[in-house]
Amino acid sequence: MILITGAAGKTGRAVIAALVARGHPVRALVHRDEQARLVESLGAQEALVGDMRDGATLRNAARGARAVYHICPNVSPDEIAIGKAMIAAAREAAVEQFVFHSVLHSQTEAMTHHWNKLRVEEALFESGLAYTILQPASYMQNVLAGWQTILDRGVYAVPYSVESRMSMIDLEDVAEAAAVVLIEPGHAGATYELAGPDVLTQIQVAEILSKQLGRPVRAEHVTIEAWTRQAQAAGMGAYQIETLVKMFRYYDRYGLWGNSRILRHLIGRAPTRFEDFVKRIVQERAVS
Ligand SMILES: NC(=O)c1ccc[n+]([C@@H]2O[C@H](COP(=O)([O-])OP(=O)(O)OC[C@H]3O[C@@H](n4cnc5c(N)ncnc54)[C@H](OP(=O)(O)O)[C@@H]3O)[C@@H](O)[C@H]2O)c1
Repeated sequence: MILITGAAGKTGRAVIAALVARGHPVRALVHRDEQARLVESLGAQEALVGDMRDGATLRNAARGARAVYHICPNVSPDEIAIGKAMIAAAREAAVEQFVFHSVLHSQTEAMTHHWNKLRVEEALFESGLAYTILQPASYMQNVLAGWQTILDRGVYAVPYSVESRMSMIDLEDVAEAAAVVLIEPGHAGATYELAGPDVLTQIQVAEILSKQLGRPVRAEHVTIEAWTRQAQAAGMGAYQIETLVKMFRYYDRYGLWGNSRILRHLIGRAPTRFEDFVKRIVQERAVS
């Protein structure tokens, strides 16, 4: 049995699907009752509902599991405490393997949620557990949050420079890599950076969207002030806004890009290019 935490989020759902497709039983830890039905519909054999900030929930979830795939809620102020409690629960349950879903360039102190993941990685080194750390770049799927604006206004809006370079990765490739390290032996002690195959400016991202959608799409730099107003209006918490603003300021100066060769090695094929991801989305949405 493989325990997946944060299982109803977009990462969790993708990892469940990848493991179920390979015939591996999954126990999904979710936050709310309705998410239990969601993960069961994806094929999770067991669904547990609970708060990751509660040690007893984590201990109960880890009991009897062969492996843990730990996904912390996105931009959580409790990331380090949750990570350490999950590690303690995994040790108590004597799990054989602990895979931590980290992030590309967790070494970056200027981005709080990256830096917090590095502290969890450090706790894993000291845990005595057989660990594997995956460090994915930002997902291609993040572009879908602005899909309607892309279609309606022909605008791909980002709160950082349109010249910033990113190597976005297809979440389905991330999930495949996760399944590989969970199923195949020999990944203990490994830390893998996972990046997509294209290092693209946001202008190039808009050009690809434009080509695949067959209509003009331009990249637009939204100011931090305008983004913050929108986030506040949508009810986002102060910690999340402050942390994401730090990330956008970092992206603005340096972008976030890496190398795709490790991903290719893990999944045994060429990683998905952004162009092919957009083609797939356009086809899926035309059918549904
Ligand atoms: N997005 C990216 O591009 C990217 C790239 C690399 C790494 N990552 C990392 O991947 C991780 C997951 O990101 P994601 O975008 O998949 O997250 P997500 O879609 O926001 O999912 C998070 C899940 O955790 C649940 N949750 C929130 N608070 C919880 C709590 N206290 N106890 C139990 N469950 C709780 C949420 O449920 P509710 O709906 O009830 O809140 C949700 O189902 C994050 O750590 C992120 O940093 C993301």
